[in-house]
Amino acid sequence: MMTFQGSHILSVSQFDREAISKILSVSAQMAPYAMRQKRCHVLEGAILNNLFFEPSTRTRVSFGAAFNLLGGFVRETVGEENSSLSKGESLFDTARVISGYSDVIAMRHPKMHSVSEFAQGSNVPVINGGDGANEHPTQALLDLFTIQSEMTPHNKTLDGINITLMGDLKHGRTVHSLSKLLSLYNDVNITMIAPNELQMPDNVISTLENAGHKVTLTDKIEGNLACDVIYQTRIQQERFASPDEADLYRGHFSLNKEIYRQYCKDHTVIMHPLPRDSRPEANELDTDLNDLDNLAIFRQAQNGVLVRMALFALTLGVEDKLTQYEKPITWHSNKNI
Ligand code: NCD
Repeated sequence: MMTFQGSHILSVSQFDREAISKILSVSAQMAPYAMRQKRCHVLEGAILNNLFFEPSTRTRVSFGAAFNLLGGFVRETVGEENSSLSKGESLFDTARVISGYSDVIAMRHPKMHSVSEFAQGSNVPVINGGDGANEHPTQALLDLFTIQSEMTPHNKTLDGINITLMGDLKHGRTVHSLSKLLSLYNDVNITMIAPNELQMPDNVISTLENAGHKVTLTDKIEGNLACDVIYQTRIQQERFASPDEADLYRGHFSLNKEIYRQYCKDHTVIMHPLPRDSRPEANELDTDLNDLDNLAIFRQAQNGVLVRMALFALTLGVEDKLTQYEKPITWHSNKNI
């Protein structure tokens, strides 16, 4: 199996099934700490530097919270304009300097492959929080964790999963990484619903097909939603030449309760990496789905904390020491709001 300790996490291609199963099992062990039943201070004194050069809420905050939940400190740089990259500093130099101030770095950047370039200058593990339209490995891992936990009550596993990806599959890095990870499982049946211009890149499709999976490409919702999991994505406006071009595709594949009732199975779970575009004209995942038990989007976002805690524990080599560094919880934040 790959060695996690001291390794960068840059692409899902670096994982095999054994490595993924290790990450998912360590993630499950994080639940008592993430749910504030116990504390864990195994990373006390360690420093995470969060470098986010592109907008982010969930990924940035959950990386930070995950590190804090293991007892570590978090420092943050948000926005390229607030860093010396805007003075012409190279990614390599920034990495060499920041890694001297850190034990691990999480980074998001608008340019494809920029996080790998940055990692070459870093003396500590770098975790890719999204590099342009390329990859988002930690999101794909938390998506797998979510699919697994949502399917267990239905006696289904990742092997044999029937999943529909829908939306902007061309620019959506989360669906690129998730598809590559799914190619490692058996008998995956994957339907990709997108306008032709926004279909999944060929290299991702061939990775799935070469692994023997059934891939269906379509631009129609009807008849293609009777699956185990629907994974909806946002039109990635920031990756289009202009907002007007992105507007052409908005609202094409909106999912609401009526469509769900008409085309989905009783157990079909809805996922979305979030943020969902809640502006009326976007209407990609209607708020009328909010009271549906099978809407897993907020459980999915919560799972991001567990998976990121696991990745920190593994890359810093403390995954077997968690219980040794436990403490009781001393506060209560009642959610009786
Ligand atoms: C995604 C991203 O940044 O790629 N968000 C996230 O990290 N959960 C999806 C998106 O922005 O649409």
